[in-house]
Amino acid sequence: MNLAMIGTGYVGLVSGVCFSDFGHDVICVDVDAEKITMLERGEVPVYEPGLDDMMARNMAAGRLRFSTDLAAGVAGADVVFISVGTPARRGDGHADLTCVYAAAREIARSLSGYTLIVCKSTVPVGTNREIGRIIAQENREAGFHVASNPEFLREGAAIEDFMRPDRVVVGVEDPKAKALMARVYRPLTLREAPIVYTDPESAELIKYAANAFLATKITFINEIAALCENVGADVKSVAKGMGMDKRIAPKFLHAGPGYGGSCFPKDTRALARIGQEANSPMRIVEQVIATNEAVKHRMIDKVMDLCGNNVNGKKIAVLGATFKPLTDDMRDSPALTIVPALVEAGANVHVVDPQGRKEGANLLVGVSWQEDVYKAIRDASCVLILTEWNEFRALDLDKVARIMREPKMADLRNIYDPAEAGAAGLTYVSVGR
Ligand code: NAD
Ligand code: UGA
Repeated sequence: MNLAMIGTGYVGLVSGVCFSDFGHDVICVDVDAEKITMLERGEVPVYEPGLDDMMARNMAAGRLRFSTDLAAGVAGADVVFISVGTPARRGDGHADLTCVYAAAREIARSLSGYTLIVCKSTVPVGTNREIGRIIAQENREAGFHVASNPEFLREGAAIEDFMRPDRVVVGVEDPKAKALMARVYRPLTLREAPIVYTDPESAELIKYAANAFLATKITFINEIAALCENVGADVKSVAKGMGMDKRIAPKFLHAGPGYGGSCFPKDTRALARIGQEANSPMRIVEQVIATNEAVKHRMIDKVMDLCGNNVNGKKIAVLGATFKPLTDDMRDSPALTIVPALVEAGANVHVVDPQGRKEGANLLVGVSWQEDVYKAIRDASCVLILTEWNEFRALDLDKVARIMREPKMADLRNIYDPAEAGAAGLTYVSVGR
């Protein structure tokens, strides 16, 4: 099939590359000419494990192309995917649909023959119908249907998630459109991946409900972690014991410095907004948003406390800046709240992150970036672990303690054993233990 992806960010690029790997002919379109030039040269603009090889293979096979020319991309396509960004709107937290509707208008002008338009972006309930209305208004001749197909991939594991999804969700009403979607995803259904066919409104809501539920699960364990600290329990044991119940499951029960990333923060805010507008307040989600903010501030207090409530002039080594490992994405990373607070308090902050520097350099003002973890730690008065990159999991703790000015560690991802850290001579704090 001929597919066009409009928007070549994390989702558009990963989906486009994976669809081409299925054997479809894919053109990925973006308004960002610099990004398209890079991609045409075979360079991947984001860090996503395995994406470069798969992209190169499919470009070489002639199944994957990149362009800034939306009209040409849409004209030859059986199915056009909208995968542009839907960030939180400044002020009210609503999903900003400017790019989605702009893309819909532009797509409409280029339609010829029958085309299926599929919205992959995360969008509030009713957006797919509005896309249909816009296209019909812009191009009265166009033969088309609209389908909702929210994406559930995670950054850092995007290819695996796309190729082996727990489920594919398709919100579609027309049988012809449904049959086309079945053809698009046939390679996955052959591998027994389940497809949930439903109406567009339910598909749109499944995406927000799933993300909000996962954000709630993380926030729940973060609140249990705070309780553990006050009553002398260990959150890792609590999470393990809870997670063994199949109805609860062990995933997303890791306590930490609060969830971040390009989606949970904006999608929880958008769902709260959707609830308010539908006169059906999402009180749990509203509380999750507030508690997650409080968690980040609790982490600042924890570090300040470890440092005797004075970091002025002290060197602090921060290990990890991205919102999670295996990505270069800094969007809504807890580091963006915690690091500026330390800089503000006068700390001399040295940051190490295997992939975060390019994006982080503009976002974390007044810090020094280091490539070598031990160089960052030398003469520091505190090591602060913010992201659980593998590179930080096997430090020589004896060496760490030896080269520090004051051997203190705040491990906000619970990657070390408190007894081991103590034995190495570190004053060690973690989360919920
Ligand atoms: P992104 O910001 O990385 O990329 C969006 C791209 O769209 C940008 O390259 C931008 O230049 C391009 N764009 C904007 N308007 C355009 C237009 N009119 N024509 C062509 N290109 C245009 O966004 P993302 O992280 O890929 O997210 C896209 C959507 O997918 C969002 O709704 C997001 O919530 C959802 N989502 C993201 C993830 C993720 O892990 N990042 C996972 C699941 C769902
Ligand atoms: C998340 C979802 O997992 C995807 O299914 C979804 O498609 C995506 O959002 C989206 O809609 O964009 P992602 O943001 O890439 O994916 O990352 P996650 O692995 O979910 O982690 C999100 C945040 O939660 C990170 O800051 C991570 O450190 C934190 N987290 C996660 C915890 O603190 N504890 C956990 O147990 C799990």
